[in-house]
Amino acid sequence: MHGRLDGPEKQRTDIRRTGIRCVNQSAGHQDAAGRLLAWYDRHRRDLPWRAPPFCPPDPYRVWLSEIMLQQTTVAAVEAYFRRFVARWPNLEALARAELDEVLHAWQGLGYYARARNLHKCAKTLVREHGGRFPDREEALRALPGIGVYTAAAIAAIAFDRPATAVDGNVERVVARLFAVEQELPRAKPALRRLAAGLTPHARPGDYAQAMMDLGATVCTPKSPGCGYCPLAGDCAALRAGTAADLPRRETRAARPIRYGIAFWTTRPDGAVLLRRRPESGLLGGMMEIPSTDWRDTRSGRRVLADAPAQADWQPMPGGVSHTFTHFRLELEIVSGVVKDWRRVAGVWTPVARLGEHALPSVMKKVVRHALAHSAG
Ligand code: ADE
Repeated sequence: MHGRLDGPEKQRTDIRRTGIRCVNQSAGHQDAAGRLLAWYDRHRRDLPWRAPPFCPPDPYRVWLSEIMLQQTTVAAVEAYFRRFVARWPNLEALARAELDEVLHAWQGLGYYARARNLHKCAKTLVREHGGRFPDREEALRALPGIGVYTAAAIAAIAFDRPATAVDGNVERVVARLFAVEQELPRAKPALRRLAAGLTPHARPGDYAQAMMDLGATVCTPKSPGCGYCPLAGDCAALRAGTAADLPRRETRAARPIRYGIAFWTTRPDGAVLLRRRPESGLLGGMMEIPSTDWRDTRSGRRVLADAPAQADWQPMPGGVSHTFTHFRLELEIVSGVVKDWRRVAGVWTPVARLGEHALPSVMKKVVRHALAHSAG
């Protein structure tokens, strides 16, 4: 499916056709950008947020896809993207939506802070920018949820600005092209400089997407497809025989473990207690099965003082484990029936309606575990 290794004559023709001009670059790098663009013209992935060739991109779709793609794969995002744009086809529609609707539609994409910022950003743009995206990185970075990478990606893809979006894929491609031996994360500034030096002034939006596609489909972490890479002739790591070993990384310290107890709290009629987590912090503002703080040591029974209500709390067998970016969480689960439930703060929810709440993945695991181990 990916390109054959093109002959030099074909490549020269492609470069003439793409007409690449770069500033601040050696001729070799101009050629590399041209080769990559010629490859992209033939092998670009057909993704739902991509404008067809020669059609202007829709900044709303570009922005939405970039927010969704933060720390998530293309395969995971495609269906969400289609559902979002079917329901909220433009910025104004999304700005008018209720936050809870957006959070609910986001379920399964992870990191709800991103969905909150998405909604906040839509409102800000409608209120303060006349419903239009700024077209430069700096102004984009001032908006909620738009960091350095996303601002560069939007400026390049939506507005064809020569911005360089550097994510893990691009770092890998560049580390190999220049055979950078320095380890990540220390190599990041050098890789960023090298990546910026490659960005052409012609078709920077296509170029940014071409780098993404190359990293995702050819210059993959393991077993890179150097045999059909359009940049094989430019690649110092391929020449040195180290492509598959780069980029090098400092060995990562093992993820710490945190511990907590989740309270499966029911009423006599079986409804389950949910409550909202504090706005700031991990899973900020999300609904949860009430739980203790997540601490560095196992808490022991004394944490029953943190229970949301008085009950005869009974431990459930087993527990739930969930991996977040910076730690692993081990949750024990205790269950209790609350008689005096009217005085308890939270949302009592019949089991059949739990699915209507945007529960984070870890809390879904708790629900599944508790239902599997509940009597009756
Ligand atoms: N990864 C991040 N942004 C992307 C995009 N626009 N297309 C494909 N993969 C991506």
